Amino acid sequence: MNIPLLVNAAHPLAEGFEPSSLSPALPGSEVLLESECAAALTALVRAVGGEGKIIAVSGYRPHGEQVLLWENTLRTCGEDFTRKYVALPGCSEHETGLAIDLALDTGGEVDFIRPYFPYDGVCGKFRARAAEFGFIERYQSGKEHITGIAAEPWHFRYVGAEHAAAMAAHCLALEEYAELLTTRRSLHGQREKL
Ligand code: DAL
Ligand code: ZN
Repeated sequence: MNIPLLVNAAHPLAEGFEPSSLSPALPGSEVLLESECAAALTALVRAVGGEGKIIAVSGYRPHGEQVLLWENTLRTCGEDFTRKYVALPGCSEHETGLAIDLALDTGGEVDFIRPYFPYDGVCGKFRARAAEFGFIERYQSGKEHITGIAAEPWHFRYVGAEHAAAMAAHCLALEEYAELLTTRRSLHGQREKL
């Protein structure tokens, strides 16, 4: 996988970016993810006994799909809502194949943009073990001014277990963590030059 860690409005994907290998997000699902991410999600859902309870709502979105989602949401829900809940095309983690929106299966209709993924029950268990399997809850409440996106309890991003553990331990948004990594690397570089 050669996918940038940080993808947001200030860090768009390269034009024409395509994921390398896609697989069903969960067994039997039509939703796709990068294969490594799909395997980790499947293992995590299995580990918390979430099979048949946790549904993959939206995973990999080709650029054109993100464009359509942005335009449709803008038309039907207005600009304020759209900017809060839909990333600008070219700047969405969904275009990487490493982001997944999940819902708890309640037997009712699933909201595609804001699926129901509560903090208790099997969803709470999923969150508690997410970092162990390489996932972070990407858009947390209280970090909106940093991420530029409203709290999205349903959106998880695969970053690998090492990064996820560090972020969870220090309650860092990906933007904060990426900045820390850059600073550390440049300090390290300066030390090597001395
Ligand atoms: N809902 C997230 C921000 C996206 O569209 O990528
Ligand atoms: Zn999402």
